[in-house]
Amino acid sequence: MARVHLRRVTRDNFRECLNLRVREFQQSLIASTTQSLAEAYVNPNLFPLAVYDAEACGYEQPEVPVIGFTMYEVVAGVGFIMRLMIDEKYQRQGYGRATIIEVIRRLKLYPDVEIIATSHLKENKIAARLYQSLGFQPWNISYAISHPTEVYLKLQD
Ligand SMILES: CC(C)(COP(=O)(O)OP(=O)(O)OC[C@H]1O[C@@H](n2cnc3c(N)ncnc32)[C@H](O)[C@@H]1OP(=O)(O)O)[C@@H](O)C(=O)NCCC(=O)NCCS
Repeated sequence: MARVHLRRVTRDNFRECLNLRVREFQQSLIASTTQSLAEAYVNPNLFPLAVYDAEACGYEQPEVPVIGFTMYEVVAGVGFIMRLMIDEKYQRQGYGRATIIEVIRRLKLYPDVEIIATSHLKENKIAARLYQSLGFQPWNISYAISHPTEVYLKLQD
């Protein structure tokens, strides 16, 4: 089973993060890493992370590449998975699922986090399947009404 190592985005790995690419049909489904890092620069509630294969754990200068990017937000009792992407070269090998599992583990460590949630565009069937298989269910939060193109999900405890 694939396992990942998540690491802060720093001067050492940010270029690799900016060079991540998804498949052409996926490009409209997510914000660019550039945009995510800009958002994180001005919002201290956001935690952007580079995704590596678990092999990178323990190495200050990993010899394995950055294979994806994720970002979560901790605010108002919610740990919200805002971004998830795996580079096109590394998709369908279990890294997307492993990344969500690792992000959930991290979010559960915050005393403030009472709900773990996420959202994706309605047409993103791959994300829908992935989140459903991990136990996410529809989340009827009132502000979802003002985002009709988006599906809001929360992890059932
Ligand atoms: C969503 C994404 C992160 C999945 O990453 P991944 O590493 O390919 O995912 P995994 O290999 O862990 O697969 C997990 C599950 O996703 C689904 N899935 C992944 N690729 C799929 C595809 N091409 N077609 C159908 N289902 C797919 C399957 O349910 C799969 O589970 P299975 O292998 O048991 O069938 C990746 O496709 C991606 O970066 N997409 C573009 C960005 C995006 O849509 N992000 C989510 C928006 S919030």
